[in-house]
Parts: sequence; C-alpha cells; structure tokens
Amino acid sequence: MLNDKNYGFATRQIHAGHKADNEGALCAPIYQTSTFIFDSVEQGGRRFAGKEDGYIYSRMGNPTASLLENKMASLENGEAALATSSGMGAIATALWSSLKAGDHVLSDDTLYGCTFALLTHGLTQYGIEVDLINFADPERVKKSIKPNTKVVYFETPCNPTMKIIDIALIAQIAHEADPAIQVMVDNTFASPYLQNPLDLGADTVVHSATKYLNGHGDVVAGIIVGKADFVTRCRTFGQKDMTGSVISPFDAFLLNRGLKTLDIRLDRHCQNAALLAEMLQAHPAVKKVYYPGLPDFEGHAIAKKQMRQFGGVLSFEVKADRAATAHFLNHLELVTIAVSLGDTETLVQQPATMTHSAYTPEELAAAGIAEGLIRVSVGLESSSDLLAAFKAGLDKIK
Ligand SMILES: Cc1ncc(COP(=O)(O)O)c(C=O)c1O
Repeated sequence: MLNDKNYGFATRQIHAGHKADNEGALCAPIYQTSTFIFDSVEQGGRRFAGKEDGYIYSRMGNPTASLLENKMASLENGEAALATSSGMGAIATALWSSLKAGDHVLSDDTLYGCTFALLTHGLTQYGIEVDLINFADPERVKKSIKPNTKVVYFETPCNPTMKIIDIALIAQIAHEADPAIQVMVDNTFASPYLQNPLDLGADTVVHSATKYLNGHGDVVAGIIVGKADFVTRCRTFGQKDMTGSVISPFDAFLLNRGLKTLDIRLDRHCQNAALLAEMLQAHPAVKKVYYPGLPDFEGHAIAKKQMRQFGGVLSFEVKADRAATAHFLNHLELVTIAVSLGDTETLVQQPATMTHSAYTPEELAAAGIAEGLIRVSVGLESSSDLLAAFKAGLDKIK
C-alpha cells in the first residue's frame, strides 16, 4: 500500500512499502536471516522456477530490503528498485547487467573517483569501450554516440565540481540516436527529494544510499531504481551472480529509518549550504565558489529547471597555496575532515588528494577539478555557528 503517486513525498517517505505487521509493530522488523523455509521440496522448486512469489535466500531478496526497495521505487517514481551493499555496488551491478564485451559506454568526464576508476580502469579490461566527454556540451554528446553505445552515464550535480547536466536533453539525444540506450543517472547529490531523473527521461537511477538517503553517517549502501524488467535482471544476474553486493537487513532497517526524515533534513542542508555559499562568495580570501544555487554559477538555469532546491554540497577554492589551504582545513572549528557527504555533521575534504585521487593531474584538469578545491558537505548545525567557523578560518588566510 501507499505506493500511490497521489500521496505527497513526505507521506511516501514514511509509509510507502510498509505492510501491516502481525505483531502490531509500528516499525518494520529486521529480518536477520540468511535463508527462508519452504513448506515442501515442491514449493522450493516453484520458487526457484519463478512460479511462486516468496523469499528463497537473502542474496536474492529479504523483507527488510524489500521495504526499502519499494519505498525508493515510490520516491524516485520508478517501477522497481534493488538495494545493494554500497553505492559502488549499485553502479557496478547496474553496469554489469547492461554491458558485454564490444559494447560502448559514453559517460560525462566528472565523476566520483571510484566510478571513474570502474569505467576507465575496470570495464575496459573486459573488452568494453568507454569514452568520457563533457556532457555540458550536448552537441558533443550527439556526435559521440556510436552504433554500439549501450549506456549513457552521468551524475548531476557532479562530484565534486557541482557541474550541472541537463537530464532531459541528454536523455532525448541518447534516445533519438537509439531508444534502447540505457540512460543512467547517479542521483546521489540531489536525492529523490530534489530531483527525479526518471521523470525527465532517464531509464535508471543509481544512488550511494550512504549519503542523504541514510543521512546519519552509519551505513554504506546503494540503490538502483528503474524499469521492472531491468531491475529484475540486476537482481537475478548482476547482483546474484556478478557482484554479490547484497545489503544487510540491519543496514536496510537503518535506511528505512533515515528515509522517514529525508525531506526535512534536506531542507536544512539546502538552507545552510545557500547561506554558506553566499558568505564564501563575498569573502576576500575565496577565489571561486561552486554551488548551483548561486545565480552566476554556470549550471544555475538548468539546475533551477530540474531541481527543486540546489542541494547541500558546495565546493570552493581559496586564494592560498597547498600548505596554507591544508592549514586552513586543519584548523577549522566545528567542521570535520572526512570524505562522504549527506550526514548531520559538516564534512570537508580535498578531492584531488582524497575522493578523486584515481584521476591523474591531466584528468583532473580536463574534468575542471582544481588541485586546491575544497568540497563541503554542509551539515545540519546552526547556520550562524557554521558561518562563523568558516569566516574565522578564512580571516586568518594571509
Ligand atoms: C556521487 C557518488 N556516487 C557513488 C558513490 C559511491 O558510493 P559508496 O561509497 O556508497 O559506494 C559516491 C561516494 O562518495 C558518490 O559521491
């Protein structure tokens, strides 16, 4: 019940996917079990043959994971979803379920570092062709699609430059070239509360559920959302046989819990990020701020069209050399140096030396990732305290 699209987002994030519990528990239980009992050999046979619904073994499905999957399918307006043990598990499972030797992947060139490594260092070892280009140039995308292109892949906003890619336009270009091309969007930075790529023409959405979906920094997980037949292929081939990237029942429980407050958390993340972006932009020690909500940011108009708010992550460069930038980060009050994002705490990191260290200096330059770039996942602290902490640090930069 409650997958009904007529219900509002807040209602669905709480109720979608929930089934009445025999014991009357408000919160769905954790089905901490690896396997499921069959009444008979015949029943086991029917379940394996797909002739009877029901659980078999937790690598193929588990009720706590099903709740999460049904909730996420509802929030992303997709037909079905599959939970995985990490965001990389979701991306690898979705790609392995779409590609074979001789196929071509066309991807944007600004990607989370491990996605970049999977595409350029991983898939290419297995006879899959990969081209990375700038998707902010739609003409180039049109020209780069080949007869063997099977997947068009991108993030928006991109990690870590916040580059914005026009989802509807790229999906249209890809599908005009070949309706069978799978347009896959990593929606981690926006979450379904801010952006629904499937409504804009994408075929599949992948998430690092580690981030905003969970929101509390205590889970590593991922999600694939898309058409029912593709999600079934991901479950029965990509996940079952290729990656084995299965979410644990406990992590699925924590995600079901985190998702209940996704909208109110993101409202505060976005509000704090907007205030911090404005303050940084006005500070004399700051060279450049990368935040889609700033009217002079390159992708602002597209972001305004396809996102409901501009997100809780921003990046910036300071007018300082490498050592002074490190000193600034090392001495920020209230702010934690850590990778990941979407948590209650404000986190800062330096992509060139951390999350994007799989890129060579040339690849960083091509993707527009400055060596000194600082990425901030703006947390839920009081905005006045956060702004004061960043201002105090910046004021000390000579
Ligand atoms: C945009 C994006 N996609 C995917 C991932 C990978 O997710 P995970 O760390 O959950 O495997 C990350 C991780 O930072 C990310 O930022």
